[in-house]
Amino acid sequence: MTRIAILTSGGDSPGMNAAIRAAALVGRAAGMDVVGIERGYRGLLEDAIVPLQPNDVQGILREGGTILGSARCKEFHQREVRDQARAVLAARGVDGLVVIGGNGSLTGAMALTDPAELGAQALRVVGVPASIDNDLGLTGLAIGVDTAMNTIVEACDKIADTATAHDRTFIVEVMGRDCGYLAMTAAVAAGADLALYPEAGRPETEIVEQIVETVLGVRKRASRKSRRVIVIKAEGVGIPVERLKTMVDARLRERSPDVDPASIETRVTVLGHVVRGGRPSAFDRLLGSRLANAAVRALATGATRKMAAWMPPIELPEDIATRSPADPYCFLVDLGAVLAETENLLAGRTPLARWRAGVFDDAATHGAMQL
Ligand code: F6P
Repeated sequence: MTRIAILTSGGDSPGMNAAIRAAALVGRAAGMDVVGIERGYRGLLEDAIVPLQPNDVQGILREGGTILGSARCKEFHQREVRDQARAVLAARGVDGLVVIGGNGSLTGAMALTDPAELGAQALRVVGVPASIDNDLGLTGLAIGVDTAMNTIVEACDKIADTATAHDRTFIVEVMGRDCGYLAMTAAVAAGADLALYPEAGRPETEIVEQIVETVLGVRKRASRKSRRVIVIKAEGVGIPVERLKTMVDARLRERSPDVDPASIETRVTVLGHVVRGGRPSAFDRLLGSRLANAAVRALATGATRKMAAWMPPIELPEDIATRSPADPYCFLVDLGAVLAETENLLAGRTPLARWRAGVFDDAATHGAMQL
Protein backbone atom coordinates (compact mmCIF):
# COMPACT_ATOMS: atom_id res chain seq x y z
CA MET A 1 0.00 0.00 0.00
CA THR A 2 1.53 3.28 -1.04
CA ARG A 3 -1.00 6.04 -0.63
CA ILE A 4 -3.76 6.42 1.92
CA ALA A 5 -6.43 9.09 2.07
CA ILE A 6 -8.18 10.35 5.19
CA LEU A 7 -11.66 11.81 5.23
CA THR A 8 -14.07 13.03 7.91
CA SER A 9 -17.74 12.71 7.15
CA GLY A 10 -21.18 13.36 8.66
CA GLY A 11 -21.62 15.50 11.78
CA ASP A 12 -18.21 16.69 12.98
CA SER A 13 -17.16 15.70 16.47
CA PRO A 14 -14.47 17.01 18.81
CA GLY A 15 -11.41 14.79 18.53
CA MET A 16 -11.65 14.24 14.77
CA ASN A 17 -8.54 16.39 14.36
CA ALA A 18 -6.64 14.20 16.80
CA ALA A 19 -7.58 11.22 14.63
CA ILE A 20 -6.51 13.01 11.42
CA ARG A 21 -3.18 13.96 13.00
CA ALA A 22 -2.45 10.45 14.27
CA ALA A 23 -3.50 8.82 10.99
CA ALA A 24 -1.27 11.18 9.01
CA LEU A 25 1.77 10.72 11.27
CA VAL A 26 1.41 6.96 11.72
CA GLY A 27 0.83 6.48 7.97
CA ARG A 28 3.92 8.46 7.15
CA ALA A 29 6.01 6.61 9.71
CA ALA A 30 4.90 3.37 8.06
CA GLY A 31 6.25 4.63 4.73
CA MET A 32 2.95 5.62 3.15
CA ASP A 33 2.08 8.74 1.28
CA VAL A 34 -0.85 10.38 3.09
CA VAL A 35 -3.42 12.75 1.61
CA GLY A 36 -6.60 14.30 2.96
CA ILE A 37 -10.00 14.54 1.32
CA GLU A 38 -11.92 17.72 2.05
CA ARG A 39 -15.64 17.70 2.90
CA GLY A 40 -16.05 13.93 3.17
CA TYR A 41 -17.56 11.91 0.32
CA ARG A 42 -18.83 15.11 -1.30
CA GLY A 43 -15.28 16.44 -1.59
CA LEU A 44 -14.13 13.05 -2.86
CA LEU A 45 -16.57 13.33 -5.77
CA GLU A 46 -15.15 16.77 -6.52
CA ASP A 47 -11.55 15.50 -6.37
CA ALA A 48 -10.86 17.80 -3.40
CA ILE A 49 -7.68 16.01 -2.38
CA VAL A 50 -5.00 17.84 -0.41
CA PRO A 51 -1.55 16.86 0.88
CA LEU A 52 -1.28 15.99 4.58
CA GLN A 53 2.31 16.56 5.61
CA PRO A 54 3.39 16.61 9.27
CA ASN A 55 3.33 20.43 9.08
CA ASP A 56 -0.33 20.39 8.05
CA VAL A 57 -1.36 18.51 11.18
CA GLN A 58 0.81 20.32 13.67
CA GLY A 59 -1.17 21.82 16.56
CA ILE A 60 -4.56 20.58 15.29
CA LEU A 61 -4.94 18.16 18.22
CA ARG A 62 -6.34 20.97 20.35
CA GLU A 63 -8.94 22.18 17.85
CA GLY A 64 -12.60 21.22 17.65
CA GLY A 65 -14.36 20.46 14.35
CA THR A 66 -12.25 18.97 11.56
CA ILE A 67 -9.53 20.67 9.51
CA LEU A 68 -10.64 18.60 6.51
CA GLY A 69 -14.24 19.79 6.69
CA SER A 70 -17.21 17.46 6.62
CA ALA A 71 -20.46 16.97 4.74
CA ARG A 72 -23.40 14.64 4.40
CA CYS A 73 -23.70 13.06 0.96
CA LYS A 74 -27.04 11.34 0.35
CA GLU A 75 -26.09 10.69 -3.31
CA PHE A 76 -23.58 8.11 -2.10
CA HIS A 77 -26.49 5.65 -1.96
CA GLN A 78 -26.34 5.55 -5.77
CA ARG A 79 -24.02 3.10 -7.51
CA GLU A 80 -23.00 5.58 -10.27
CA VAL A 81 -21.93 8.10 -7.64
CA ARG A 82 -19.79 5.49 -5.87
CA ASP A 83 -18.27 4.50 -9.26
CA GLN A 84 -17.29 8.13 -9.71
CA ALA A 85 -15.71 8.19 -6.22
CA ARG A 86 -13.74 5.01 -6.93
CA ALA A 87 -12.54 6.49 -10.23
CA VAL A 88 -11.20 9.58 -8.42
CA LEU A 89 -9.35 7.40 -5.90
CA ALA A 90 -7.87 5.21 -8.65
CA ALA A 91 -6.75 8.26 -10.64
CA ARG A 92 -5.06 9.63 -7.53
CA GLY A 93 -3.36 6.31 -6.79
CA VAL A 94 -5.14 5.93 -3.45
CA ASP A 95 -5.42 2.33 -2.34
CA GLY A 96 -6.27 2.81 1.33
CA LEU A 97 -8.94 4.95 2.92
CA VAL A 98 -9.48 5.97 6.54
CA VAL A 99 -13.10 7.02 7.08
CA ILE A 100 -13.62 8.97 10.30
CA GLY A 101 -17.33 9.32 11.02
CA GLY A 102 -20.55 7.79 12.26
CA ASN A 103 -23.19 5.38 11.06
CA GLY A 104 -23.87 6.97 7.65
CA SER A 105 -20.18 7.47 6.90
CA LEU A 106 -19.31 3.86 7.72
CA THR A 107 -22.26 2.62 5.67
CA GLY A 108 -20.75 4.62 2.79
CA ALA A 109 -17.35 2.98 3.42
CA MET A 110 -18.93 -0.48 3.20
CA ALA A 111 -20.70 0.32 -0.06
CA LEU A 112 -17.59 1.91 -1.57
CA THR A 113 -15.60 -1.29 -1.05
CA ASP A 114 -18.36 -3.75 -1.95
CA PRO A 115 -16.41 -6.48 -3.80
CA ALA A 116 -19.20 -6.74 -6.38
CA GLU A 117 -18.67 -3.08 -7.30
CA LEU A 118 -14.93 -2.87 -6.74
CA GLY A 119 -13.90 -5.38 -9.41
CA ALA A 120 -10.12 -5.50 -9.74
CA GLN A 121 -9.55 -2.12 -8.08
CA ALA A 122 -7.23 -2.32 -5.07
CA LEU A 123 -9.01 -0.27 -2.44
CA ARG A 124 -9.16 -0.96 1.25
CA VAL A 125 -11.00 0.88 3.95
CA VAL A 126 -10.85 1.03 7.74
CA GLY A 127 -13.30 3.12 9.74
CA VAL A 128 -12.76 5.19 12.87
CA PRO A 129 -15.95 5.77 14.91
CA ALA A 130 -16.62 9.48 15.44
CA SER A 131 -20.03 10.80 16.44
CA ILE A 132 -21.20 12.66 19.52
CA ASP A 133 -24.35 10.48 19.47
CA ASN A 134 -22.54 7.27 20.59
CA ASP A 135 -25.03 5.33 18.50
CA LEU A 136 -22.54 2.92 16.89
CA GLY A 137 -22.54 -0.74 17.79
CA LEU A 138 -19.51 -2.77 18.86
CA THR A 139 -17.52 0.13 20.24
CA GLY A 140 -17.74 1.35 23.82
CA LEU A 141 -17.28 4.95 22.74
CA ALA A 142 -16.98 7.06 19.63
CA ILE A 143 -14.80 10.15 19.26
CA GLY A 144 -16.54 13.30 20.52
CA VAL A 145 -18.92 11.75 23.04
CA ASP A 146 -16.83 12.68 26.06
CA THR A 147 -16.42 16.32 25.03
CA ALA A 148 -20.12 16.63 24.16
CA MET A 149 -21.09 15.17 27.53
CA ASN A 150 -18.79 17.63 29.29
CA THR A 151 -20.31 20.52 27.34
CA ILE A 152 -23.82 19.47 28.38
CA VAL A 153 -22.81 19.06 32.01
CA GLU A 154 -21.14 22.47 32.04
CA ALA A 155 -24.25 24.07 30.52
CA CYS A 156 -26.53 22.31 33.03
CA ASP A 157 -24.35 23.45 35.93
CA LYS A 158 -24.85 27.04 34.74
CA ILE A 159 -28.56 26.56 34.22
CA ALA A 160 -28.80 25.02 37.70
CA ASP A 161 -27.46 28.26 39.23
CA THR A 162 -30.25 30.39 37.82
CA ALA A 163 -32.84 27.63 38.27
CA THR A 164 -31.94 27.41 41.96
CA ALA A 165 -32.11 31.19 42.37
CA HIS A 166 -35.69 31.24 41.03
CA ASP A 167 -36.97 27.77 42.14
CA ARG A 168 -37.51 27.03 38.46
CA THR A 169 -37.89 24.01 36.24
CA PHE A 170 -35.75 23.83 33.10
CA ILE A 171 -36.14 21.40 30.24
CA VAL A 172 -32.76 21.18 28.49
CA GLU A 173 -32.79 19.56 25.06
CA VAL A 174 -29.59 17.92 23.85
CA MET A 175 -28.44 16.41 20.56
CA GLY A 176 -28.06 12.70 19.96
CA ARG A 177 -30.30 12.05 16.96
CA ASP A 178 -32.24 8.80 17.68
CA CYS A 179 -29.99 7.80 20.56
CA GLY A 180 -30.51 8.87 24.19
CA TYR A 181 -26.97 8.11 25.36
CA LEU A 182 -25.88 11.75 25.78
CA ALA A 183 -29.07 12.69 27.63
CA MET A 184 -28.77 9.70 29.98
CA THR A 185 -25.12 10.04 30.83
CA ALA A 186 -25.19 13.83 31.09
CA ALA A 187 -28.23 13.57 33.38
CA VAL A 188 -26.29 11.37 35.77
CA ALA A 189 -23.16 13.52 35.60
CA ALA A 190 -25.08 16.80 36.00
CA GLY A 191 -27.27 15.48 38.82
CA ALA A 192 -30.40 16.22 36.80
CA ASP A 193 -33.79 15.24 38.21
CA LEU A 194 -35.07 13.48 35.11
CA ALA A 195 -33.75 12.16 31.81
CA LEU A 196 -36.04 11.74 28.80
CA TYR A 197 -34.72 9.49 26.03
CA PRO A 198 -36.27 7.73 23.04
CA GLU A 199 -35.20 4.24 24.17
CA ALA A 200 -37.77 4.39 26.97
CA GLY A 201 -40.51 4.48 24.31
CA ARG A 202 -42.94 6.43 26.53
CA PRO A 203 -46.03 8.07 25.03
CA GLU A 204 -46.40 11.86 25.21
CA THR A 205 -48.92 11.88 28.06
CA GLU A 206 -46.70 9.69 30.20
CA ILE A 207 -43.72 11.96 29.60
CA VAL A 208 -45.76 14.99 30.68
CA GLU A 209 -46.90 13.17 33.85
CA GLN A 210 -43.30 12.12 34.59
CA ILE A 211 -42.14 15.74 34.50
CA VAL A 212 -45.13 17.02 36.48
CA GLU A 213 -44.69 14.38 39.20
CA THR A 214 -40.98 15.22 39.41
CA VAL A 215 -41.68 18.97 39.72
CA LEU A 216 -44.38 18.52 42.37
CA GLY A 217 -42.18 16.12 44.33
CA VAL A 218 -39.17 18.43 44.23
CA ARG A 219 -41.22 21.48 45.25
CA LYS A 220 -42.18 19.75 48.48
CA ARG A 221 -38.55 19.64 49.60
CA ALA A 222 -37.74 21.50 52.78
CA SER A 223 -34.60 23.19 51.59
CA ARG A 224 -35.21 26.04 49.15
CA LYS A 225 -31.79 25.37 47.60
CA SER A 226 -32.96 22.01 46.30
CA ARG A 227 -36.26 23.09 44.80
CA ARG A 228 -35.05 23.58 41.26
CA VAL A 229 -35.70 20.93 38.59
CA ILE A 230 -33.46 20.06 35.65
CA VAL A 231 -34.93 17.75 33.02
CA ILE A 232 -32.59 16.65 30.24
CA LYS A 233 -34.47 15.71 27.10
CA ALA A 234 -32.85 13.88 24.18
CA GLU A 235 -33.80 15.41 20.81
CA GLY A 236 -34.79 11.89 19.72
CA VAL A 237 -37.84 12.05 22.00
CA GLY A 238 -40.33 12.94 19.29
CA ILE A 239 -42.32 15.63 21.08
CA PRO A 240 -41.12 19.17 20.18
CA VAL A 241 -39.77 20.86 23.26
CA GLU A 242 -42.01 23.96 23.07
CA ARG A 243 -45.08 21.74 22.83
CA LEU A 244 -43.82 19.73 25.79
CA LYS A 245 -43.42 22.94 27.79
CA THR A 246 -46.98 24.04 26.95
CA MET A 247 -48.40 20.66 28.00
CA VAL A 248 -46.37 20.50 31.22
CA ASP A 249 -47.28 24.08 32.19
CA ALA A 250 -50.99 23.42 31.60
CA ARG A 251 -50.89 20.26 33.71
CA LEU A 252 -48.94 21.99 36.50
CA ARG A 253 -51.57 24.74 36.63
CA GLU A 254 -54.28 22.08 36.81
CA ARG A 255 -52.52 20.19 39.60
CA SER A 256 -51.61 23.32 41.61
CA PRO A 257 -54.63 25.66 41.28
CA ASP A 258 -53.62 27.72 44.32
CA VAL A 259 -50.13 28.49 43.12
CA ASP A 260 -49.24 31.57 41.05
CA PRO A 261 -48.88 30.12 37.50
CA ALA A 262 -45.87 32.34 36.80
CA SER A 263 -43.99 30.72 39.66
CA ILE A 264 -44.29 27.21 38.25
CA GLU A 265 -43.96 27.92 34.55
CA THR A 266 -41.10 25.91 33.01
CA ARG A 267 -38.21 27.30 30.95
CA VAL A 268 -36.66 25.65 27.91
CA THR A 269 -33.06 25.66 26.70
CA VAL A 270 -32.11 23.91 23.47
CA LEU A 271 -28.36 23.38 23.44
CA GLY A 272 -28.31 22.39 19.74
CA HIS A 273 -25.01 22.60 17.90
CA VAL A 274 -23.20 24.02 20.94
CA VAL A 275 -22.97 20.38 22.04
CA ARG A 276 -20.95 19.46 18.94
CA GLY A 277 -18.32 22.18 19.16
CA GLY A 278 -15.42 23.16 21.35
CA ARG A 279 -11.94 21.97 22.14
CA PRO A 280 -11.78 18.20 22.54
CA SER A 281 -11.37 16.84 26.05
CA ALA A 282 -8.12 15.09 26.93
CA PHE A 283 -9.95 11.77 26.62
CA ASP A 284 -11.24 12.53 23.11
CA ARG A 285 -7.74 13.54 21.99
CA LEU A 286 -6.44 10.25 23.36
CA LEU A 287 -9.28 8.22 21.87
CA GLY A 288 -8.95 9.84 18.43
CA SER A 289 -5.20 9.28 18.41
CA ARG A 290 -5.35 5.67 19.56
CA LEU A 291 -8.19 4.59 17.27
CA ALA A 292 -6.56 6.21 14.24
CA ASN A 293 -3.24 4.59 15.11
CA ALA A 294 -4.92 1.17 15.23
CA ALA A 295 -6.84 1.87 11.99
CA VAL A 296 -3.80 2.91 9.95
CA ARG A 297 -1.69 0.05 11.24
CA ALA A 298 -4.49 -2.30 10.26
CA LEU A 299 -4.63 -0.83 6.75
CA ALA A 300 -0.86 -1.27 6.47
CA THR A 301 -1.18 -4.98 7.17
CA GLY A 302 -3.84 -5.43 4.50
CA ALA A 303 -7.03 -5.22 6.58
CA THR A 304 -10.16 -3.91 4.94
CA ARG A 305 -13.82 -3.35 5.81
CA LYS A 306 -13.02 -3.10 9.51
CA MET A 307 -13.61 -0.46 12.14
CA ALA A 308 -11.19 0.35 14.93
CA ALA A 309 -13.27 -0.01 18.09
CA TRP A 310 -12.71 1.03 21.71
CA MET A 311 -13.36 -1.57 24.35
CA PRO A 312 -11.88 -2.70 27.62
CA PRO A 313 -9.30 -5.40 26.96
CA ILE A 314 -11.78 -8.28 27.05
CA GLU A 315 -12.13 -11.39 24.93
CA LEU A 316 -14.50 -11.06 21.96
CA PRO A 317 -15.46 -13.77 19.46
CA GLU A 318 -12.69 -13.93 16.86
CA ASP A 319 -15.12 -14.21 13.96
CA ILE A 320 -16.20 -10.59 14.45
CA ALA A 321 -13.37 -8.89 16.29
CA THR A 322 -9.62 -9.22 16.69
CA ARG A 323 -7.57 -7.21 19.12
CA SER A 324 -5.34 -4.59 17.52
CA PRO A 325 -1.72 -5.61 18.04
CA ALA A 326 -1.05 -1.86 18.42
CA ASP A 327 -3.26 -1.24 21.45
CA PRO A 328 -5.01 -3.59 23.94
CA TYR A 329 -8.05 -1.25 24.14
CA CYS A 330 -8.52 -1.21 20.35
CA PHE A 331 -10.23 -3.95 18.39
CA LEU A 332 -10.61 -4.39 14.66
CA VAL A 333 -14.23 -5.20 14.21
CA ASP A 334 -15.91 -6.40 11.07
CA LEU A 335 -17.59 -3.34 9.56
CA GLY A 336 -20.65 -5.33 8.48
CA ALA A 337 -21.10 -6.57 12.05
CA VAL A 338 -20.80 -2.97 13.34
CA LEU A 339 -23.56 -1.75 11.04
CA ALA A 340 -25.84 -4.70 11.91
CA GLU A 341 -25.28 -4.14 15.64
CA THR A 342 -25.92 -0.40 15.22
CA GLU A 343 -29.27 -1.12 13.57
CA ASN A 344 -30.20 -3.50 16.40
CA LEU A 345 -29.04 -1.03 19.03
CA LEU A 346 -31.19 1.77 17.60
CA ALA A 347 -34.16 -0.57 17.26
CA GLY A 348 -33.81 -1.58 20.93
CA ARG A 349 -33.01 -5.22 20.12
CA THR A 350 -29.66 -5.66 21.90
CA PRO A 351 -29.13 -6.37 25.62
CA LEU A 352 -27.33 -3.00 25.86
CA ALA A 353 -30.31 -1.20 24.31
CA ARG A 354 -32.71 -2.97 26.67
CA TRP A 355 -30.56 -2.04 29.65
CA ARG A 356 -30.42 1.59 28.51
CA ALA A 357 -34.21 1.66 28.05
CA GLY A 358 -34.90 0.62 31.60
CA VAL A 359 -31.94 2.00 33.48
CA PHE A 360 -33.70 5.03 34.97
CA ASP A 361 -36.78 3.04 35.95
CA ASP A 362 -34.72 1.49 38.68
CA ALA A 363 -35.45 3.45 41.87
CA ALA A 364 -31.90 3.26 43.19
CA THR A 365 -30.41 4.53 39.93
CA HIS A 366 -32.97 7.29 39.81
CA GLY A 367 -32.22 8.24 43.38
CA ALA A 368 -28.49 8.35 42.69
CA MET A 369 -29.15 10.74 39.82
CA GLN A 370 -30.69 13.36 42.05
CA LEU A 371 -28.74 15.94 43.95
O1 F6P B 1 -25.05 12.96 14.32
C1 F6P B 1 -24.55 14.07 14.96
C2 F6P B 1 -25.60 15.13 15.09
O2 F6P B 1 -25.02 16.23 15.75
C3 F6P B 1 -26.90 14.69 15.79
O3 F6P B 1 -26.78 14.67 17.19
C4 F6P B 1 -27.86 15.71 15.27
O4 F6P B 1 -29.20 15.22 15.29
C5 F6P B 1 -27.41 15.93 13.85
O5 F6P B 1 -26.03 15.57 13.81
C6 F6P B 1 -27.55 17.35 13.36
O6 F6P B 1 -27.13 17.39 12.04
P1 F6P B 1 -26.95 18.73 11.23
O7 F6P B 1 -25.75 19.44 11.78
O8 F6P B 1 -26.74 18.28 9.84
O9 F6P B 1 -28.17 19.55 11.45
